[in-house]
Amino acid sequence: MDSFIINGGRPLSGTVRVHGSKNASLPLMAAALLTDQPLILRDVPDLSEIRNMTRLLGTLGCEAEQGGAEPGAPDAGGGDRAMTLHVTDSSLTAAPYEIVKTMRAGICVLGPLLAKRGRARVSMPGGCAIGDRPVDLHLRGLKALGAEITLDAGDIVAQAPGGRLTGGHVFLGGPSGSTVLGTANVLCAAVLAKGQTVIESAACEPEIEDLAGLLIQMGAKIQGAGSPRLIIDGVEALSGADHRVIPDRIEAGTFVFAAAITQSSITLDNFPTDALGAALDRLHAIGVDVTPKPTEGQPFDRHRGSVSVTPADVLKPIQVFTQPHPGFPTDLQAQIMSLLCLADGNSTITEKIFPDRFLHVAELLRMGADLTRNGPSVVVTGVGELIGAPVMASDLRASAGLVLAGLAARGTTTINRVYHLDRGYERMEKTLQTLGADIQRVNEADL
Ligand code: EPZ
Repeated sequence: MDSFIINGGRPLSGTVRVHGSKNASLPLMAAALLTDQPLILRDVPDLSEIRNMTRLLGTLGCEAEQGGAEPGAPDAGGGDRAMTLHVTDSSLTAAPYEIVKTMRAGICVLGPLLAKRGRARVSMPGGCAIGDRPVDLHLRGLKALGAEITLDAGDIVAQAPGGRLTGGHVFLGGPSGSTVLGTANVLCAAVLAKGQTVIESAACEPEIEDLAGLLIQMGAKIQGAGSPRLIIDGVEALSGADHRVIPDRIEAGTFVFAAAITQSSITLDNFPTDALGAALDRLHAIGVDVTPKPTEGQPFDRHRGSVSVTPADVLKPIQVFTQPHPGFPTDLQAQIMSLLCLADGNSTITEKIFPDRFLHVAELLRMGADLTRNGPSVVVTGVGELIGAPVMASDLRASAGLVLAGLAARGTTTINRVYHLDRGYERMEKTLQTLGADIQRVNEADL
């Protein structure tokens, strides 16, 4: 297993390009099951979670081919990688436990399989380090389209009567708002269903809008993408498509926080300004500014433009509530907590999506942070400095928060088990090295 060793206190400078979005790519890849024709996806990041999804699709008769830059090769910066997905055997309908248990997004194949092949057996994903993560809303939505669903030996077994789903009215709101992957599943199921489907309380996340955009390009009839009300008129068949994945708003946000916590100015290319409204608002309240860098003679691209980050002299304390999009994303909660550890006063962070997503709290305490947790809220009392320490967190974003703390801390921080980070950040240490950080990947056996 690999670890990161970070010698903190180095300012960052320079430019990096934000990769394509992991959380957009996963349901986009699953959508390849909806067509017999090739689907080309551009700028899919090279991550372990994506490789797991490729393996899962392989077990379902959908082959992946990589083109453009080699996977694993240093990113040339242009996002010129292309992945082609092509169904060669549509008789397979079982998603095995061995793969789904490693990746909750494996549940994304349920809707497409049911829509195109009329049946599916998908292992019920378990909970994970950030909470219980039920799938009741996914199943409720698919049942509203006529699916017959039972649970057998830990698997969800679903069937469309007569081989085809029928449009229906679906409400996807749960105790914490809508569900992102649940919306992806029901949307993919509805595009090939007979008749019209209305999804109320649909997730408005940019990743869902991107999925709807791809499906429309494939021939689906969808109105309301990006809003809480989706209207889908089912079609008989979908074609292939060639689609560029949106930039990863969470990776983008993480690098803004990296600049802010090290009091550095950096430039980020392929930056999704519009998808990060709430995070940019909170950063502005803290005193950190992210400003467009328009290319001469062209209007600023709010989806993929270049921005510069200007740090604050003094970080102001603030309140943060995580919420479904367009609210502040839960996937940036750990990162903003690390930053607020160094603010001048008391901040409060309340987690409204995953109330137990605080694995980073105990580790930040080991680095000298002053944090008081009360249920879903944490009071963050600013301290003068963080102090390097060996730390570990078994959640991707919690680990990212710890890397940021390590970049700012006095002395050496060792982040253990970075395979959690590798699930969601493409060679994060390389990107940070490009910006001048003192960070090395080492094998734990060598420590
Ligand atoms: C997606 O997970 C993301 N994963 C998560 O990112 C992200 O944290 C989450 O959305 C929220 O934004 C991917 O896109 C692959 P949800 P998802 O269903 O879709 C409750 C990361 O770090 N709920 O929107 O699984 C649930 O418990 C990952 O990249 C139900 O009650 O999350 C939670 O409180 C981690 N019943 C809330 O809804 C259900 O059937 C939102 O969860 C489904 C969800």
